[in-house]
Amino acid sequence: MADLLQGLTLALLLAPFSHQQHLKLGLECASCHKGALSSARPADNNLPTQEVCRSCHEQPVAIKQPSPNLVTRFSHLQHLKLGNFAAVIAAAIDGKTYHTLPAETVHKHLNTNNACGACHRGLEGSTQVSKANMPQMADCLVCHPKIDNPFSCEFCHDPGPHLKPASHVPGYLDFHSTGRANLDKQSCVICHGKRFTCLGCH
Ligand code: HEC
Ligand code: HEC
Ligand code: HEC
Ligand code: HEC
Ligand code: HEC
Ligand code: HEC
Ligand code: HEC
Repeated sequence: MADLLQGLTLALLLAPFSHQQHLKLGLECASCHKGALSSARPADNNLPTQEVCRSCHEQPVAIKQPSPNLVTRFSHLQHLKLGNFAAVIAAAIDGKTYHTLPAETVHKHLNTNNACGACHRGLEGSTQVSKANMPQMADCLVCHPKIDNPFSCEFCHDPGPHLKPASHVPGYLDFHSTGRANLDKQSCVICHGKRFTCLGCH
């Protein structure tokens, strides 16, 4: 019996947390992520504590640490006061001002009934949280459209070389203009804007 219990505990500790399974029970986001309602900084931990789980699970269940993210300025409290963003993001996609492609997937998962779901999409069908459930930069730029690299980045991020994508290898300035870099030009817009000048060539 003791072995069986220990086995069950281990199974719970190892099983990934499924939002799909728990949302089906009719639980609200804030019943587990109460902290998000008043969080004013990305550094806050808005994941639930064991207490929340204990009402249904007698055995302890594993809760991971929040995933690291690059955004150092964002307030849930401030943005939640503005209502549900789903319609605004949908309008940007329809108007082709949304900067990240493919945008159809984003459109499909926008949730107009739940303010959290405009930014955290797809949790109803998620058996394990991933980056896909987190907002992307393009969502923010719908309302904060200024792009003036590197100055505009500091609105949301700490400045620094970590804001360059992996494609920008040393010597990229020379390499990018050779015609051999195979540039996906649409993908540059989100960080460099549609119109910019750089050292006289653009
Ligand atoms: C029954 C409790 C519960 C409910 C209800 C719930 N969550 Fe979660 N959520 C968790 C747990 C636990 C984790 C940590 C996942 C893990 O340990 O793998 C998590 C993780 C997350 C993450 C990822 C955090 C990260 O740093 O990776 C987001 C985003 C999130 N939840 C948003 C939501 C939203 C939005 C809703 C409502 C649609 C919701 N959750 C409903 C318990 C819950
Ligand atoms: C305007 C977009 C937006 C909305 C709306 C939003 N979030 Fe977030 N959420 C973010 C961003 C950006 C992050 C990453 C930065 C941070 O952690 O503050 C995040 C992170 C999280 C995390 C990750 C864990 C952690 O500790 O930071 C959880 C959980 C979460 N949000 C839950 C919620 C819940 C619950 C709601 C609704 C009550 C909600 N969010 C509404 C943008 C949003
Ligand atoms: C309202 C009740 C309720 C709450 C609160 C709740 N759970 Fe659950 N949980 C369930 C039910 C029901 C299942 C499905 C059990 C089954 O089918 O065997 C489940 C399944 C799980 C599983 C999968 C276990 C397996 O063997 O597949 C994990 C992991 C889990 N919950 C973690 C958590 C965590 C972490 C929390 C707290 C953040 C939590 N649960 C809060 C009701 C709840
Ligand atoms: C639907 C429009 C909308 C979206 C989408 C949006 N914001 Fe905002 N954001 C606002 C408004 C409006 C304000 C100003 C609120 C005020 O002054 O009370 C603001 C303010 C801010 C501020 C400044 C806070 C301060 O105190 O100066 C930051 C940082 C910010 N947003 C980051 C983000 C990030 C990161 C995202 C994406 C996850 C995002 N915003 C998405 C509308 C939006
Ligand atoms: C209005 C808020 C906002 C502004 C302004 C902003 N970002 Fe972001 N950025 C985000 C969010 C939200 C994410 C997604 C969360 C994450 O990856 O941590 C992100 C992600 C990123 C990433 C990681 C991309 C990935 O796929 O992992 C890089 C690199 C980045 N931003 C660079 C920049 C640069 C460069 C600028 C200025 C030209 C900028 N950001 C301006 C909000 C913003
Ligand atoms: C010597 C001239 C030259 C300089 C200097 C230069 N570029 Fe370019 N750039 C080019 C050429 C040529 C292309 C087109 C390459 C292709 O189509 O493969 C290009 C393409 C690009 C693109 C792709 C989108 C577009 O507008 O075609 C971006 C983004 C870009 N450059 C950014 C920059 C930035 C940022 C700087 C300054 C740090 C810079 N470039 C400096 C010549 C230059
Ligand atoms: C995630 C954001 C992001 C994306 C996407 C992006 N860049 Fe950049 N890029 C940056 C940042 C940040 C810098 C450094 C700006 C500074 O500090 O002046 C930079 C600098 C450059 C430079 C100058 C050389 C260097 O490495 O500093 C060139 C050339 C350039 N980018 C071209 C491109 C092209 C071409 C694309 C599309 C194929 C692109 N970038 C996409 C963020 C980005």
